[in-house]
Amino acid sequence: IAAALGLSIWAGGEGGHAVAQSDSYTIKFGNVISVGDTQNQGYALFAELVEERSDGRIKVQVYPDSQLGGEREMIEATQFGDIEMTAPSVGVLANFDKSLEVFDFPFIFEDAETAYKVLDSELGDEMLAGLENSGLIALGWGENGFRNLAMVKGTVRTPEDMRGIKLRTMQVPMHIAYWRSIGAAPTPMPFPEVFTSLQQGVVDGVENPYELLFSARFTEPAHFLTETRHIYDPEVILISKTFFEGLSAEDQKIIRDAADEMVAKIRSLKSTISDEIRAKIVAAGGTVTDLTDEERQQWIDSAIPFYKENASKVDTGKLKAILE
Ligand code: PAF
Repeated sequence: IAAALGLSIWAGGEGGHAVAQSDSYTIKFGNVISVGDTQNQGYALFAELVEERSDGRIKVQVYPDSQLGGEREMIEATQFGDIEMTAPSVGVLANFDKSLEVFDFPFIFEDAETAYKVLDSELGDEMLAGLENSGLIALGWGENGFRNLAMVKGTVRTPEDMRGIKLRTMQVPMHIAYWRSIGAAPTPMPFPEVFTSLQQGVVDGVENPYELLFSARFTEPAHFLTETRHIYDPEVILISKTFFEGLSAEDQKIIRDAADEMVAKIRSLKSTISDEIRAKIVAAGGTVTDLTDEERQQWIDSAIPFYKENASKVDTGKLKAILE
């Protein structure tokens, strides 16, 4: 019947693979990141390696710039196998797997090296493996980076300055709860709506890593930046579980190995990009403010009531392990 219907999904015969080993196929990899950004340079390397190592049998078509929708939509599309891959922010993905919410706690990582220690540990592996319960295979941790503030009307230095400020956030409950706990007015909104909202004064500011703030041109209306580094935002490289499990062991290995190299490339590009982009923002007329040690301590302290309120609402064991 399959043959009569021309359905290649059973073409693997006894092997039971949804996609036969000799089959050529295309992996659609959707993301919301601008085309030239470091993540997309990493995704392009992945595409190149997979194609090369499969002798052109496997093509990876990367769709940047939200061409296939927002992060939530693309996670769902990957679960259902409508697209094969995506790489959302961990914050948005935590809506699908609550154990990831621990990364949404502000000031949990001092620097990227500490974050990598956790992500690359058994705990990090366990968290990636847990995504199988949501119909997703995680191929590795990508990286958005540390999130900073960009404001329209003036520089923010302390948590007190955030009182009453309408801040665009992601649709991430823990982020929203933190900003609310310090008296701000968090305004969750999908990424594609943010630029116009900043221009029209619907929100007073936005928070994201420098690279995203700049490539999405948010730093044009919101050119008062503060290096708060309030949240380290890893992304997760996802592939559809049903799709992946239907592949031959050989193809799975090609994909996993290329994903490891993609992650290494993204990390290495990220290690210098913040400083480069920061300089570009200043050259374009923006201001970037560093916090004094005392101000930074005020920010860290500002999160303590939030931790007290929310630590018991997430996977407390994981939260403790990370803090330790
Ligand atoms: O601000 C956001 O929505 C996220 O940081 C983004 C840009 C979608 C990347 O995950």
